[in-house]
Amino acid sequence: MRNDGPVLAVDQGTSGTKALVVCPERGVIGSGAAAVRPRHLPGGRVEVAPAELYASVLEAGRQALAEAAEPVVAMGLANQGETVLAWDPVTGEPLTEAIVWQDRRASGICGELAPYADDLTAWTGLPLDPYFAAPKMAWIRRRLTRSGVVTTSDAWLVHRLTGAFVTDTATAGRTQLLDLDRAVWSPDALDVFGLGGERLPEVVDSDTCVGTTKAFGGELPLTGLLVDQQAALLAQGATGFGEAKCTYGTGAFLLASSGTRPVRSTTGLVGCVAWRLRGRTSYCLDGQVYTAASAVRWLTDLGVLAGAHDLDRIGTTVPDSGGVTFVPALAGLAAPWWRADARGTLTGLGLDTTPGHLVRALCEGVAAQVAELVDAVGTDLGARPGALRVDGGLTRSALLMQAQADLLQLPVEVADVPDATARGVAAVARLGIDRGLSVADAVPGRGVSAVYEPRMGAAEAEERREGFRQVVG
Ligand code: G3P
Repeated sequence: MRNDGPVLAVDQGTSGTKALVVCPERGVIGSGAAAVRPRHLPGGRVEVAPAELYASVLEAGRQALAEAAEPVVAMGLANQGETVLAWDPVTGEPLTEAIVWQDRRASGICGELAPYADDLTAWTGLPLDPYFAAPKMAWIRRRLTRSGVVTTSDAWLVHRLTGAFVTDTATAGRTQLLDLDRAVWSPDALDVFGLGGERLPEVVDSDTCVGTTKAFGGELPLTGLLVDQQAALLAQGATGFGEAKCTYGTGAFLLASSGTRPVRSTTGLVGCVAWRLRGRTSYCLDGQVYTAASAVRWLTDLGVLAGAHDLDRIGTTVPDSGGVTFVPALAGLAAPWWRADARGTLTGLGLDTTPGHLVRALCEGVAAQVAELVDAVGTDLGARPGALRVDGGLTRSALLMQAQADLLQLPVEVADVPDATARGVAAVARLGIDRGLSVADAVPGRGVSAVYEPRMGAAEAEERREGFRQVVG
């Protein structure tokens, strides 16, 4: 039976939750948003109150539903991938703060487990780094004095919404506890992290009806679960081998599809599950810039600019970065370097350095990191993408997008929908409620609102990128 009513899609992200009501014929008919405020603490710690995450899901969802003012047939939930917490599985009560993916506190555990690093990568596709969920889960488990489960934030949110104890395959793949080839929990990886006795959520396909929620009034089936970056990959239609997207949010995340074949990166990228839909597992490569909008917020807090909307106004007060190089490693460096202890670096400062130079250097720093990731994808998959599809809030900065096209020497295609992640999980929720629908039919056609072509010559782009690499060291 066809079930083609509107769906509620909620994207629970690091800095906020967005919700859309998406109708197959009329597109977005309602939207909502609620901020989330992670706390940045000394020692590279980043925490958020679990109750704030849940409240933001309710608030954004209710706003979207109120605006749509018509019934929805299903709900989908996209989640930040590697944020973890302990909670009581009977009452649902959180037992710890949520430790956010950017948090570095599990660096010591990663150091201890370094002899197992190659095995862990072979089993799970992921390098050993405190970014992933398992090191943080182990950190919590060693300190937890009350009985409870330790999971990624999606499992807790879904339990709050429906009572189910599940996680989707792609989120499970962000833990470093999932066997990449078989897409089931890996007993070997669990043992290495000292999590062998853990009660873990059931790993489900993304298009599974996991239960119903009364959180929005009535009984709403929750039929779509997917980690946020993979949801954006799906919404961008980047499902063919080697097709790539980058989402510029709190961090910037480059993902490239590798089809139904799991790929072990030789360049330091992450090989992981893209999604499991209609019983079939698809895979992707993934590379990360830990601080994109986070770095913009940092410059904003220092008073250099008024916010992300101000990037282009300040950045265009000068013609170039004036010799300033910024490696925005404010929460360490991820792929392909994997240096959790790296710190942000600003070089080339002079008495004549202005906020405009700093803003340009920030844009070039993020773009240079993404360019390294695209090259790594090209090496791993045997061909560089022909263009980069982009989405996320920072794509509104023409300065950043032009820097990206210049340093990549590729066209950069900006999605015409600002909320690709929510659109992606809306498609998954539709697949969950309408079993007759194919994946291709569920994914909306991709629209492009702007294309940035490289304006810089190849030699100059390489010189700038080499300058960036030198500062990274
Ligand atoms: O891996 C972290 C990622 O899932 C967070 O995404 O959108 O909150 O920056 P976002």
